[in-house]
Amino acid sequence: MNDRFLRACRREPVDATPVWFMRQAGRYMPEYRKLREKHSLLQLCKTPELAVQVTLQPLPLGVDAAILFADILLPLEPMGAPFEFAAGEGPVIRDPIATRSQIDALRLIDPEDSLAYVMTTIRALKRELQVPLIGFAGGPFTLASYLVEGGKSANFAKTKKLMFGAPDAWALLMEKLAEVVRRYLRAQVAAGVDAVQLFDSWVGDLAPADYVEHVQRHSRHVLRDVQTATGVPVIHFGTGTATLLESMRDAGGTVLGVDWCTPLDQAWARIGYDRAVQGNMDPCALLATREVAVKHAQRVLDAAAGRPGHVFNLGHGILPETPVDHVRAVVEHVHGAGGRGSA
Ligand code: CP3
Repeated sequence: MNDRFLRACRREPVDATPVWFMRQAGRYMPEYRKLREKHSLLQLCKTPELAVQVTLQPLPLGVDAAILFADILLPLEPMGAPFEFAAGEGPVIRDPIATRSQIDALRLIDPEDSLAYVMTTIRALKRELQVPLIGFAGGPFTLASYLVEGGKSANFAKTKKLMFGAPDAWALLMEKLAEVVRRYLRAQVAAGVDAVQLFDSWVGDLAPADYVEHVQRHSRHVLRDVQTATGVPVIHFGTGTATLLESMRDAGGTVLGVDWCTPLDQAWARIGYDRAVQGNMDPCALLATREVAVKHAQRVLDAAAGRPGHVFNLGHGILPETPVDHVRAVVEHVHGAGGRGSA
């Protein structure tokens, strides 16, 4: 078993810097696009044999961890908020949350039961993998934003109107989402995942005071519980978080995600060296040439300076237009001359 990734999460010495990529299974890979010609995204997620196959697709690139193939929105369906993935538009929630009674009606699910297909996928993957398996869930704020907006949003106007205008209803929504996410991550660990990541992708759209007032304790409910009850590394991820890093750290996480707008050395100094960090290459730096990609990877490695506790990743997911060759070149560079084991 290659345990570099888990060792780095625990800030232990490693033989080379571990690397994996958010969205490492996906449309930039020809093998994935081929499967998507025959199956919808939800079919891939809900059919364990297919989800296993997709999870394994990026491993020949040499990455040090696998991430479960699923989607952060899956728990919304059994909670009572079904959705679809519309071609080219991303997710569409059938009945977006607009009233208190809709929030009251959301169910606190048992993920072992209503997301049993995810647990089946995890158990099957654990029989095949030589690298650690990362489970994941959406952060309460990010999930709430999809539920309220009904899909992607440019400014989160409806979400923030609820948050600022009806703080009690907002708090109930966040409590329900946090409790479901807590149970879901615990179930994934029980099924066998070796680490989990909380994707709070859009939390960076909040002012720091609003994050602290309306989001932080709900994220803490998830992060603290999963960390203390399971002992597996917990990665706390967001983007646009330059002004939120300390508040996100205080909410919890063994490893803090760092986007590309904050230099990694500065981010790490603010977070504190008692936590590991993950990131922070610009996903767009993979698009130009192999040389450019490797140069940006080296910049991240230089900022990490061989300190124990660096997991190499992008600051956000791999873009569909990314050349597979550039990804492979970065993996080789991080593992080779550029990537240092911690002294
Ligand atoms: O390889 C992996 O990282 C694991 C699989 C994974 C998916 N979604 C599959 C997927 C993961 C970790 C996610 C997380 C996810 N899903 C997030 C948080 C991460 C992030 O990028 O910020 C969010 C916000 C979602 C919700 C979601 N799912 C959106 C907004 C979209 C549409 C946007 C797009 O890229 O088209 C999806 C669709 C989705 N989920 C795809 C994949 C591989 C797109 C591919 C497809 O349509 O086949």
